[in-house]
Parts: sequence; C-alpha cells; structure tokens
Amino acid sequence: MAKIGNIDVGDFPLLLAPMEDVSDPPFRALCKEQGADVVYTEFISSEGLIRDAAKSTMKLDIYEKERPVGIQIFGANLESMLQSVEIVEKSGPDIIDINFGCPVKKVVSKGAGAGILKDVDLMVSLTEAMVKHTKLPVTVKTRLGWDHDSIKILEVAERLQDVGCQAISIHGRTRAQMYKGEADWAPIAEVKNNPRMHIPVFGNGDVDTPERAMEMRDKFGLDGAMIGRASIGYPWFFREVKHYFETGEHLPPPTMKERLDAARRHLQMAIDWKGEKLGVFETRRHYTNYFKGIPHFKEYRMKMVTSDDSVDVFKAFDEVEREFSDYQFA
Ligand SMILES: Cc1cc2nc3c(=O)[nH]c(=O)nc-3n(C[C@H](O)[C@H](O)[C@H](O)COP(=O)(O)O)c2cc1C
Repeated sequence: MAKIGNIDVGDFPLLLAPMEDVSDPPFRALCKEQGADVVYTEFISSEGLIRDAAKSTMKLDIYEKERPVGIQIFGANLESMLQSVEIVEKSGPDIIDINFGCPVKKVVSKGAGAGILKDVDLMVSLTEAMVKHTKLPVTVKTRLGWDHDSIKILEVAERLQDVGCQAISIHGRTRAQMYKGEADWAPIAEVKNNPRMHIPVFGNGDVDTPERAMEMRDKFGLDGAMIGRASIGYPWFFREVKHYFETGEHLPPPTMKERLDAARRHLQMAIDWKGEKLGVFETRRHYTNYFKGIPHFKEYRMKMVTSDDSVDVFKAFDEVEREFSDYQFA
C-alpha cells in the first residue's frame, strides 16, 4: 500500500500527470471517474501566483470529488516559492508538488523546472524550506538528470527524501532528451531498490498500454505509475489498466455513446470553468483521441477544431452521433 504522507493512495496507484492546459478540473474529473487514484494540476508559476496573475490563480481551483489532488508549482526563487506555498494552501489541496522536470527553455533559463537539475544543492534546499513551511505533504516530480552525462538521480532522490519529500515521481528521460527517444525506467528502479529509500517512487514516461503499466509494477518494482499522454482524450486508460491488473484481460474499448458523453461533458465543464473561448480552444486537443479510429472522420474533426463557437462543436457531436452511432471501435 503506497502512502503519500498520511494519505493512503492504494496499491500501485495510477497518477494523472500534471500537464499544462490538459490537467485542468474538467479533465481531472473525467480521469478520476475512470479510476485515477491521484491527480495533479498542471504546473503553476510561483512568480505568477505571487503577482496574483489571474491565469495562475484560476489554476488553483480544485473540487472535492477529485481528492486526493496535488497542486504543482514551479520556480527557483526561495521567497516566491514559500509565498506561493501559502497561497496554494488556501485552495486546500492534499499535496503540494514541486516541478523540477519541465524542460522548456523559458522555464529552465530561469533555473526552474529541469533547470534546477544543474544545481542539486538548490533543489534540495528549496524542497527542505517548502517542507518546513507547510503541513501538507510535499512531493517532487523530476527527470533522470540534466543530460546523459550528469545523471545523479540516485543521490538526488535520497537527498530529497532526507529533507522530508514524501514521494517522488521520476520521468525516465533527461532534460536534454526533451520528449525524444524512449523513457528509461532502469534508473528509476535503481532509485526504488536503494535500501535507504522508503518514500514511494512513482515511474513516469511512456506508459501507454496496460501491459506497460504492469511491467512498471512487476518488472521494475515501482510504487505506482504516473500517466500523461496516454490519457489525453482517453480518460478510460485508467480503468483499462485497472481491469487488466485485476483480470489479466483487456476491457473492450469505450463505446461511441461513452465517447460522446465524455466529449460533451468535457466541453461543457471546460466552458463552465474557463469560459466559452478558452473552453472551446483547450478541449480541442482531446478530440483526436476521443474519436480515434473512425474512418473518414476528418470532416467532423475539422468542424470540432476550427469553430470558436461551442454551438458548432456540439452540433458536430450530434452529427457524429447520427452518422456513426453503430460504429464499433476496435
Ligand atoms: C501537453 C503536456 C503538458 C505537460 N505539462 C507538464 C506540467 O505542467 N508539469 C509537469 O511536471 N510535467 C508536464 N508534462 C510532462 C508530463 O507530466 C509527463 O512527465 C510526460 O508527458 C511523460 O509522461 P507520458 O509519457 O505518460 O506522457 C507535460 C506533458 C505534456 C505532453
């Protein structure tokens, strides 16, 4: 049974990865319904939070039904990170997660995200200060290292644990790899097998089938799987993995009705939460997967992703329902 601080997260939990413009309340709700055990918000800038930037504070919204939920923040300035801990606490999350893994230039150039992998002492001291500043469990999400020649994840994980980090999620790539190549889970297993480690070690990167999730559990012996891209437009991935663990068999894919229900609810929740314009825009990336496999679908998908008006998108869903209600997904 894995525990993050005092929170029991079950045996080999499945965690929804923090994903910018993806892991928002509507999508988290859908993933939770389908079996995600822990969900994380997308990363939130500590500098944005302390300036009360509307975009950052809106990302703090969480809902009872999604617990346990972690709010992820990033930054490299101690004072800003501590102040944002206080702001984040007001939203009542169960966990505060620190992003030490984001590879994008605008983040790493400020020494935040994966940028901090170049300064492990700072990474550790920031974590320690945050742990001391809150009663909530603090977790860390990071990568294997800055680049192939500077992988120190074994030492990093131990030191983070020693200053009170309550769980670590490791993406099996370096910053230099960005998203290229395959995630390497062997170094993550080394962290887990270190006899000094006692906090949960969650694996991340390329879990895209139930078999891969099982491999992460049984071959690599990790404490849980953090799932990102495989869930985009496919929140059913969580229930499929769970079913496979329980029975060794694959669930049939979700039906057209389930997909349409999810797409409609997703869009409506997104509009309710962030308004028509952003709601329509940011739900677009999910449609390819919601309706993946339907032949000659381009015309319908184009309608869903080109109009700024939700009425047109809902109409496109209705058309899909009329045209393809009998379609059997493979
Ligand atoms: C669209 C997108 C946005 C992401 N945003 C974040 C983020 O805000 N915070 C973070 O720690 N990682 C972020 N990531 C990285 C994912 O959390 C995860 O580490 C990565 O996608 C590898 O896992 P996967 O192969 O299961 O997708 C993002 C990834 C994607 C694809």
